Amino acid sequence: MTSRPEADHETTPSTVSASDSSSKTTSNTRKVFVRTYGCQMNVYDSERMTDVLAPEGFEATHDLEDADLVILNTCHIREKAAEKVYSELGRIRKVKEERAKSGKDMMVGVAGCVAQAEGEEISRRAPIVDVVVGPQSYHQLPDLLQKARGGRKVVETEFDIDAKFDHLSDQAQKHVLKRAPSAFLTVQEGCDKFCTFCVVPYTRGAEVSRSVEQIVTEAERMAASGVREVTLLGQNVNAYHGEAPDGSTWGLGRLLRRLSEIGGLDRLRYTTSHPRDMDDDLIEAHRDLKTLMPYLHLPVQSGSDRILKSMNRRHTREEYFRLIDQIRAAAPDIALSGDFIVGFPGETDQDFEDTMDLIRRVEYGSAFSFKYSQRPGTPGATMEDQVPEDVKSARLAELQALVSEQQKAFNASRLGMTCDVLLEKKGRNPGQLVGKSPWLQPVQLDAPEDLIGSIQAVEIVEIGSNSLFGQLFDRQDTTQKARPVPATVV
Ligand code: SAH
Ligand code: SF4
Ligand code: F3S
Repeated sequence: MTSRPEADHETTPSTVSASDSSSKTTSNTRKVFVRTYGCQMNVYDSERMTDVLAPEGFEATHDLEDADLVILNTCHIREKAAEKVYSELGRIRKVKEERAKSGKDMMVGVAGCVAQAEGEEISRRAPIVDVVVGPQSYHQLPDLLQKARGGRKVVETEFDIDAKFDHLSDQAQKHVLKRAPSAFLTVQEGCDKFCTFCVVPYTRGAEVSRSVEQIVTEAERMAASGVREVTLLGQNVNAYHGEAPDGSTWGLGRLLRRLSEIGGLDRLRYTTSHPRDMDDDLIEAHRDLKTLMPYLHLPVQSGSDRILKSMNRRHTREEYFRLIDQIRAAAPDIALSGDFIVGFPGETDQDFEDTMDLIRRVEYGSAFSFKYSQRPGTPGATMEDQVPEDVKSARLAELQALVSEQQKAFNASRLGMTCDVLLEKKGRNPGQLVGKSPWLQPVQLDAPEDLIGSIQAVEIVEIGSNSLFGQLFDRQDTTQKARPVPATVV
């Protein structure tokens, strides 16, 4: 359902900002192709990169062959994700050579978490790469490209997150004209938790929260440009502790309350949360805020106390169960989702059985699961008792079968219900649109195109394997709040 690590996609011209009057003329227009791997934070960053490049005359394209600049925004979370980058660079090299035959140049940039983790090594392994840029340095892209044009390889992997957000916000302000109905907004970046399997603290650096004012301004601008649903992003989004205008520090619950006052923003979501940071105020926000959607992604990774300890997750399974009870008491309707790792070093059959037991007890609406992948530089990589690949595969299959059963049951429980659906885009068949239910399920239905961007009451009439099928109820937008006048948009 949600896009998860290793799901790769291109930044589409329809969802990125259009260029403004300060853009160069069409004759100067160059094309940029951005391919995004990894989590939603990379999706957000890819859009900000195209914002930064727009005043330089770059327009987004779907077509690799047509691109003057190719950027791979990469993910380092598992070995498979990181290796994909090198095979993609091989393909790009061929396209670049083809273009060169007709006298056209192509610059190549590698951004994101592989860029941060492997820096210089990328240029060595893939000589076609002109620029390597870490996640905190995107605002410098125009300068870095300029330097690289002089024929020099450029590697920029400094951590200066405040500069990144200050600059990217300015750019976004100038360029946002029209956006898709659902958008991401990064409110927090980095992680100080150091789970023993995970590279994120090394690739994204220490935890930093953006200020309330910066976030509210960006959310208001999104609302004014047609966004109905905002998903707040952070590697540990519920560890958010941003500075408020009065100098106090706000947590995520308080921030959500403030954002729910913005006209036009009818739906709020956030991801990804850590169980340790689920405080009472945030749980109460689920009870109090109509705009906060009844969906929570709360990864637990394992149901075994022994493994949780060795993973440095810093909570027990009982604490997780108590938390789930508290959340369900506040929001009985909530769809829960999680992440699981099978085959962490030392995981026995009994530990795995504890994970299966936890899943049976919690009953998830959906979940994402992965075989443990040894990541260089993390403590897990050198632990004893690494689990053999075939055992990991068998456990993963068993776990996924259970989750799939739970997901089917959850989806089936929506049959006959009428719920609000945010209509986001055209469906596969003519006359069809696809939207999202409050529980983040894709919903397909017959509806005219002019309803894209509206929230409609939809009756769920059929359940498919991955999506629900619905029927429009009365074609009235179920808007809860007055929409802002789009005057703040340049
Ligand atoms: N901050 C989030 C997770 C971010 S990474 C949290 O704390 O839960 C997204 C998911 O990738 C993780 O939840 C985990 O399930 C998976 N993951 C991370 N490192 C991994 C590794 N080395 N091997 C397999 N899966 C991993
Ligand atoms: Fe990785 Fe753990 Fe931080 Fe999540 S909390 S990003 S799993 S180190
Ligand atoms: Fe991957 Fe980096 Fe996100 S490692 S999951 S792109 S934070």
